[in-house]
Amino acid sequence: MIRKAVIPAAGVGTRLLPATKSQPKEMLPVGRKPTIQYVVEEIHAAGIKEVLIITSQQKRAIEDHFDYDPSLVEWLQRSGKSLELINHLEMDVRLFYTRQSVPKGLADAIRMAKGFVGDEHFVVCLGDSIIYSDRPGSLLRRMMEVHEEKGAEATIAFETVEWEEVSRYGIAKPKGEMDDLFWVEDLVEKPSREEAPSNLAVAARYVFSPRIFEFIDKTEPGKGGELQITDSIRLMLRAGLPVLGVRLGEGERRYDIGNFQSYFEAFFDFSLSDPELGERFKRYVLRRLGLR
Ligand code: G1P
Repeated sequence: MIRKAVIPAAGVGTRLLPATKSQPKEMLPVGRKPTIQYVVEEIHAAGIKEVLIITSQQKRAIEDHFDYDPSLVEWLQRSGKSLELINHLEMDVRLFYTRQSVPKGLADAIRMAKGFVGDEHFVVCLGDSIIYSDRPGSLLRRMMEVHEEKGAEATIAFETVEWEEVSRYGIAKPKGEMDDLFWVEDLVEKPSREEAPSNLAVAARYVFSPRIFEFIDKTEPGKGGELQITDSIRLMLRAGLPVLGVRLGEGERRYDIGNFQSYFEAFFDFSLSDPELGERFKRYVLRRLGLR
């Protein structure tokens, strides 16, 4: 049984400057909540109760967001406001934190979780991507299930992206038919459109066996001079270990907050589906676009 999750949230966020000059990209709001709250809620919905967040300098706001604040509670009570506004503090999840002080890449950040996970298989959810699902936690639950059932050493979520976007992501070469579930033959980090073996992009969710740490230790700096987890997984594949791919299914959608284009799309979609303001916002958009 998989009991632990790791959220790497140490990235510098240069693609989102100036918005991320002095605040973590994981704290950028999407609709009413900061991005990382959706990630923790997704992990909780999948039944995982122990979460390690890997942070870095300028990321203290993440810890503050999940910390109980007695003066805020008292103020809400005194002013007759609902405590529901901060009910993320009631989630039955234990959060742990550690820091990656020098930005050396995603693989190096994940390496910081070694002591936390011990000899257990574990989930990794990148803190700058929201997986929306009409059945919260569905993707992670499916990934954990097949990971255990098929005896994989790594299981990765994939989504089909536009060919123009392949150079932003890790891209898979599937073994044989590209089904909802497939074995991965190879992975390439941020290939050019010409080099890309497919348009199946790593969708920010992984399940790993603790053997990943052996391969992280052997990983050489890759794209951007950083230690890329894609390259560590590639070493696993070269060593003949089984790596599974799981495609996002119906009713599941990934929102990448790491660049402005998809951040804008995420904010737009979550605003449209806001239970209180969504309808009104939709009318506003239609009016603005001259469609009504
Ligand atoms: C990272 C991974 C990449 C993956 C992406 C998903 O890239 O290196 O393989 O497709 O996350 O969001 P980053 O966004 O950190 O550049």
